Amino acid sequence: MRSISVIQITKGYMGATPREFQGNCTTNATRSAGHDCDFPAQVFNLKNRLGLRFCRDLVEECLEYAVQAPTGSNSQSWQFLVVTDGDKRQALGDIYRKGWEAYAGMSASAASLAVGASEDRADQQLRVMGSAAHLAENFHRVPVMLIPCLPGRIDQWPGMGAVSALAGIIPSTWSFMLAARERGLGTCWTTIHLMYEEEAAGVLGIPYDEVTQVALITVAHTLGTDFRPASREGGAAAVTRWETW
Ligand SMILES: Cc1cc2nc3c(=O)[nH]c(=O)nc-3n(C[C@H](O)[C@H](O)[C@H](O)COP(=O)(O)O)c2cc1C
Repeated sequence: MRSISVIQITKGYMGATPREFQGNCTTNATRSAGHDCDFPAQVFNLKNRLGLRFCRDLVEECLEYAVQAPTGSNSQSWQFLVVTDGDKRQALGDIYRKGWEAYAGMSASAASLAVGASEDRADQQLRVMGSAAHLAENFHRVPVMLIPCLPGRIDQWPGMGAVSALAGIIPSTWSFMLAARERGLGTCWTTIHLMYEEEAAGVLGIPYDEVTQVALITVAHTLGTDFRPASREGGAAAVTRWETW
């Protein structure tokens, strides 16, 4: 059994409450999937659950689901870069935090969107902002970072081409995230590092002129599984029209 890295991070999943993550591979879900990494019991008692290991096999298995996703023209032009190296994660953490500082002051930030919102919505926005701030602070500690990539600089493409290209990798990445969830992993879709995409490309050896990074998905084991649906004012009906706009 190959294993990778260490961990503790934070960030909920799919609208779940912000929470800590742990790095063991011995949840029921992973055990039943044959992923018991069989690490010494004492590593699970560390205060911050640092030093826990992570199964590389789990990530590879989730990626097999990802590449089952549909693509336009069956192009399958996705590429995934998995980062576990400590120095690279540290460098990405520094880049992310630089982006986070800019984001936190933006009018589109989660906190800014709380202004003038209903009480429930404002509370939710501030929870998301708090969770995101914690992630930013601990970004370098995320044990596995998955970067979905597309060939070409899609930011130079016309609308339909760029939209179709993006839509050719989002379902696969989401499939990865769902497969991860099923295996006791928590993930979070992030894009803030893209403010400094070229710098990140330099860290990772990605040829910036030829390859577009689309996201950075954080991956770790969750502490517990007591997730719940996120509140959505008015539900789907509030944002759905039928037959005509
Ligand atoms: C396209 C996209 C980009 C996102 N970028 C970030 C990001 O860079 N950092 C971040 O903390 N959350 C980002 N989010 C939000 C998280 O993925 C997550 O939905 C949000 O933090 C609420 O989840 P939580 O309950 O897990 O905190 C992004 C979501 C999407 C869909």
